[in-house]
This record gives sequence, C-alpha cells and structure tokens, in this order.
Amino acid sequence: MNVLLIGSGGREHALAWKLAQSPRLTKLFIAPGNAGTGTLGENVSIDIKNHKAIVQFAKDNAIEFVVVGPDDSLAEGLVDSLKEAHILSFGPSKKAAQLESSKAFAKDFMKRHGIPTAYSETFNVFEDALAYAKTHSLPLVIKADGLALGKGVVIAESITEAEKTLKSFMVDKAFGDSGLSVVIEEFLEGKEISVHAFCDGAVARMFPIARDHKRIGEGNSGLNTGGMGTIAPVEISEALKTEILTTVIEPVLKGMVEEGIPFKGVLFPGIMVTKEGIKVLEFNARFGDPETQSYMRLLASDLLDVMLDCAEGKLSESNIVWRPEYVCTVILASGGYPEKYNSGYVISGLDAVGPETVVFEAGTALSGDVTLTAGGRVLGVSALGKSSEEATKNAYAAVKNVSFDAMYYRKDIGLDWGV
Ligand code: AMP
Ligand code: GLY
Repeated sequence: MNVLLIGSGGREHALAWKLAQSPRLTKLFIAPGNAGTGTLGENVSIDIKNHKAIVQFAKDNAIEFVVVGPDDSLAEGLVDSLKEAHILSFGPSKKAAQLESSKAFAKDFMKRHGIPTAYSETFNVFEDALAYAKTHSLPLVIKADGLALGKGVVIAESITEAEKTLKSFMVDKAFGDSGLSVVIEEFLEGKEISVHAFCDGAVARMFPIARDHKRIGEGNSGLNTGGMGTIAPVEISEALKTEILTTVIEPVLKGMVEEGIPFKGVLFPGIMVTKEGIKVLEFNARFGDPETQSYMRLLASDLLDVMLDCAEGKLSESNIVWRPEYVCTVILASGGYPEKYNSGYVISGLDAVGPETVVFEAGTALSGDVTLTAGGRVLGVSALGKSSEEATKNAYAAVKNVSFDAMYYRKDIGLDWGV
C-alpha cells in the first residue's frame, strides 16, 4: 500500500518511523516532511493547504491511504476533500475537528453532554467579556476560540492582564478571526495529563497516559511552548483510567454520533486531575507533539493496521498492544525559543546515541550531508527503559552526545511520573 503522510514536525517523523515498519507498506510519501522523514520515505514539496494538489498527487501516485498529522489541515477539511475524491484517510472531518478548532464549540459540546470541564462562558463582544472578567475571581483563563499556534491561552493573574489579553484577542485581532470569540474559564489546580484514544466513530481505544511539559523552564516556569518533553505511561490507577474512558472518551464519541458528526482519528483531551476529580482542559483532534514521539516507541502493534481499522470503522476487531516499558522524550530546542532564536547551526552526534534511543527531527534541514537546525524545537531524544527511572536516565545520557550552538533543553523531564 502506498501511503501519504501530511505534516513536517517531530510528530510526523515519529509517525513515519512507525509506519515505515509496517509489512503492509509499499512506499511512504511525506508532504512536505522534514530531514528526518526523508530517511524513511520520499518527501514531496506540495503546499498542504492546496487540497486539489494533494488529491492530484494521491491519484498520480496510487496512494491508497492518507494520514493527516497537523491540526490546521484537519480544521481546513483535508479529510473531507479526500473523501470527496474517494481517497481513504486517517483523521476527523472538518466538522468533527471543531472539537479542537473551536473552543466555544468544545465547551458547548461538553455542557450538552455532561462532560466534566472547567466552568466557562463564551463572549463575542469585548465590553461583555471585560465586564465578566472584572466581576470574577482571578486568576482567569482566557482562550481564543480558534487555532492560534498554541498561543491562544492566557492565564490572567490581574485584571490589567485580563484586559490587555481581551483587547489583544478581540479588538487588535492578534490571532485574526481566531480571537473574535473568547472563552473565559475558571482556573483549575491539579496535575495535567495527556490522554489519547484511537477512534473509529463508534469505538475508542485508549493509549497509555502521557505527560507533556509545556513550559520552557524547569519546574513548569516561564512561557508556554509546543512541549519540551513527554513521558509515558504516567502512573495512574485503573479506576482513574476507567473514569476517563467512561466520563470523557465514550461520551464524546456517543455525543458526536448523536450530533451527526462521528469522530474518527485520534481524540486527545488535555485533562487536569483536580481534587474534585478529572476535568477536560481542551480537546485536540490529532496526535500530540511531542507525545507521539514517546507513543510510537511504546506501540507494539502495526500502526498502519490500527489506522486503517479506525478509518474503516473496524476498531473493535483491532488488537492494539503496547510494550510494557517506559519512555522519556527530551526536546532539544534552539536557545531563545519560544521567542526569537537563530537557525542554521550544525548538529553533531546524531549517530552517537545508544540502541534504546531514537532521535526524532522537528526543526532540521539538510545541507548536503550535514544536518542543520531550522526551527525552535529541533530534536526529540526518545529513550525506553524497564522503569521510569531507567527511561529518564537513558534519555539524558543520549542527550549528552548531541550538540549544536545555543542548544537548550529542560533538565527535569521525567522527574514526576505521578498524578
Ligand atoms: P490549552 O491549549 O487549552 O491546553 O491550554 C494550554 C495550557 O494552559 C494547558 O496545557 C494548561 O496548562 C493551561 N490551562 C488551560 N486551561 C486551564 C485552566 N482552566 N486552568 C488551569 N490551567 C489551564
Ligand atoms: N503536546 C501538546 C499538543 O500537541 O497540543
């Protein structure tokens, strides 16, 4: 089977790495891909916003299955465009992807279906939003309705900060139309976990639980990033896992069927485990990044088989097996990220990491045979271990072998595996 994978991040390198191991794969194409995916298949330079061009490429190259990685491609309806052309794909439809692409939709959906989440209200008028913020206790969490490159959530500690944020989102349009509606939400305290489930519209299968480390600094300090490292499985009780399945995942699938927009693909709720129980922080309608860089190391089953079962509504027949090990992925970033940083530095030591380690590439570029830095999050160093301590130790031992100018990474990924 010829497969086309859409995307160019560390997530896509990890997906490509796993898809390439499938005996069912004839040839893997990645659009546009990165230096890492280029070692596993053929990178093709198509503008992924151009659905016509993707459909044409798929037809010209006998592609039987398309895997859509990025949130914006899903929100733009790439799965729908492929379906119209009778090409099977992995991922939710544009309407189902609203769980991620509209926070207002997601919050209303959770209210309609009794799914536990933080109390919130949605506003379309700046003055109304400001009046609400002034009469509610701080901190308040302010979220742009639409996709905003991971920058659309602000935890406002003061009314001045709340006003500044609302003005920036709703009046100055810092994120274009994405911020015209905002959700204002109560601040939740607790421990955050990443939950993923394969979904075929009716049936869901949960992955082991993961933890992302979203802030740039140790101890979860500083600015939010796309994710500075992930660990899995987080140690959580069977009772809590069952609670997540029965109060979040299953009601979402059932609710989406009731609303006529069944969810297929990966459902990824960010969840806060609070003293009062679990609460959904947000839904993503795709694989997490860097979570996927950890997950693909643990997945023992054939990813292509599982994805096809999701797309064909046959997940109940799928036997999904996870390795009984631990994994720790440390992101190596360009100094300055998530703000201004420089690129173009030579990366050395990529071949010097041990056998239990895989280095996934995100922001890299090839210049001849030399790999250069080309983004904020450059590499993900992902190591397995028989225990959580061993996985962490192996990951940091491997990190020591890799270097580039102004390399930055957090030293505390994997210090806390609990909830
Ligand atoms: P989101 O993009 O909605 O996941 O938000 C980004 C990050 O903001 C989350 O990973 C949380 O760390 C934090 N966050 C979002 N909503 C809340 C909330 N209601 N209370 C506390 N922290 C939150
Ligand atoms: N790691 C969080 C995300 O992919 O949204």
